[in-house]
Amino acid sequence: MYGSNVAPKKVTVPDLRARKGGEKIAMVTAYDYTMARLVDEAGVDMVLVGDSLGMVVQGLSTTIPVTLDEMAYHCRAVARGLARAHLVGDLPFMSYQVSPEQAVESAGKLMKEGACESVKLEGGQEVAEHVHRIVRAGIPVVGHVGLMPQSVHALGGFKVQGRGDAAEKVLADAIAVAQAGAFAIVLEAIPPDVAARVTESLSIPTIGIGAGAACDGQVLVCTDLLGLSRGHQPKFAKRFADLGTQAVEAFGAFVSQVRSGAFPAAAHTYKPNSATPRTTTPSTPRVLRRDVGGEVDDLDTPLPLDHWH
Ligand code: KIV
Repeated sequence: MYGSNVAPKKVTVPDLRARKGGEKIAMVTAYDYTMARLVDEAGVDMVLVGDSLGMVVQGLSTTIPVTLDEMAYHCRAVARGLARAHLVGDLPFMSYQVSPEQAVESAGKLMKEGACESVKLEGGQEVAEHVHRIVRAGIPVVGHVGLMPQSVHALGGFKVQGRGDAAEKVLADAIAVAQAGAFAIVLEAIPPDVAARVTESLSIPTIGIGAGAACDGQVLVCTDLLGLSRGHQPKFAKRFADLGTQAVEAFGAFVSQVRSGAFPAAAHTYKPNSATPRTTTPSTPRVLRRDVGGEVDDLDTPLPLDHWH
């Protein structure tokens, strides 16, 4: 964690590459400014605006309908909340599969419009040329093999990949993406021994999600990690908090207090006009009183806009 008055050093691609086999990399997804600020303050190294936003934010059953414009919109919001962490934007379904040219254009859009610092794409040998071309354009790439949610229909559902002989394909795919120039690779839902083999075979960091402890880093979806998700939870999605229950309790308390009239009390209400001496001339713009972080500002003098944050 970093103090609020110290500008943290930005995590760079070379920093992350240098973590291979060393201090593990912590990566978390985020989809908006508020979450981005929290994960950054906590010292997370990489923040992924995943196309999982289709399921987490939009309530879809797969990531397939997510568009490049939607990704750029969420990446922009997250970028504004990050001071230290490296920002990765996910290339959504059909924004890169068509051709290496399409992949370069889509990656460029996420860098320019989404303020991303790298892009992630799913696939193995079949996208090696796409990765190579994006990297050649100066855009750092994170690969993603194993369970690839954009291929959920081809895979027959969200299930563990790389069992038995299929382990060789996961390894070959990871090697192809690394050789094409990716600087890191996500390994999703594969047996831990397969992830360990991939990790040993590559000179770039592996970041696991449901891939065991041998990876060079771990990634989780923020809402799973915080216990905000409802419904089915994958086995790997450890809850580090139960904020969902706390949120329901807090919303419930709000409902009760609104209905009973206990909220708002005097502490959450501006002074009535009758109790505020007039200190301004009629031509001065009207200013309000605001509560900021538990303290009440006396708004006779307007505060700068960024005071709210
Ligand atoms: O979209 C996503 O959130 C991801 C992570 C699960 C790695 O790809």
